[in-house]
Amino acid sequence: MPLTSPKEMFEGAYHNGYAIGAFNVNNMEIVQGIIQAGEAEQSPLILQVSAGARKYAGQRYIIKLMEAALEEADLPIVLHLDHGQNFEICKEVINGGFTSVMIDGSHLPFEENIALTRQVVDYAHGRGVWVEAELGRLAGVEDEVSSEENVYTDPDEAVEFVERTGCDSLAIAIGTSHGAYKFKGKPQLDFERLEKITSMLPGYPLVLHGASSVLPEFVKMANQYGGNVADARGVPEDFLRKAARSGVCKINIDTDIRLAMTAVIRKFFREHPEEFDPRKYLGPARQAVKEMVQHKIRNVLGSSNKI
Ligand code: G3H
Ligand code: 13P
Ligand code: ZN
Repeated sequence: MPLTSPKEMFEGAYHNGYAIGAFNVNNMEIVQGIIQAGEAEQSPLILQVSAGARKYAGQRYIIKLMEAALEEADLPIVLHLDHGQNFEICKEVINGGFTSVMIDGSHLPFEENIALTRQVVDYAHGRGVWVEAELGRLAGVEDEVSSEENVYTDPDEAVEFVERTGCDSLAIAIGTSHGAYKFKGKPQLDFERLEKITSMLPGYPLVLHGASSVLPEFVKMANQYGGNVADARGVPEDFLRKAARSGVCKINIDTDIRLAMTAVIRKFFREHPEEFDPRKYLGPARQAVKEMVQHKIRNVLGSSNKI
């Protein structure tokens, strides 16, 4: 099956109250773990690549890994650019075969975000590629874009933004943030705001970034075996289920993959100090990615058996 567009995936998700997981990929083990989970659950998948991932692995390697994955797995798979910073990057990945791009103008003033997004939409739509944009700002670091605090998405602006840019999906800020330290106190998301945006943009797919749950079992394991991931806190999984029922069609997960791999590798190193064959620890790390993603698909996103 060739790479696909998110269009049908999101239609199914929107109308049936589930979401598609968008998982960040950086190397072969991560790609394989996610694909194996998708196959086991018969779930559509979005694999996304950040600027950092492109720099680390190289776009050519990522594309070749995806080609291999598509030959092995008979699943609908989207290859998406995560947090595209400018028009040129979006253009490059579109020409390289990505089926979906995010243009992240969230750090720009409203009118400039509109102009940049519009430019990407014009180029992408001419080539059948999906465009995600972002309005509002998440606290934390997104590649080279960083923000001190959350600026929640204004529902009226969201409507105007979508109308004027023609973007296909919109990432909104309702209290999530990137990384492992999302909440100081009790986790809270602005569901009222989400529901307002959904009611003003009926049928329109929304995207939730910064949606890792920072699974306690992996935080505990990482810390137990020499790590120092103190006070990490993510988005509770029932919040994600609720978001999926309220118009959020794409849920972004990266930190949970990083934590799962690191925890398992730390444990392995502690328990087998004599080992030095990378396959011995990358194998269990890949298995941990598979199991974690499978859990998300089945118990949180609800996208099992939706192909
Ligand atoms: O939004 C951020 C993603 O987790 C990607 O992170 O830029 O370190 O690859 P990265
Ligand atoms: P997390 O850091 O919560 O995994 O968010 C990932 C993300 O939004 C990638 O764009
Ligand atoms: Zn993000």
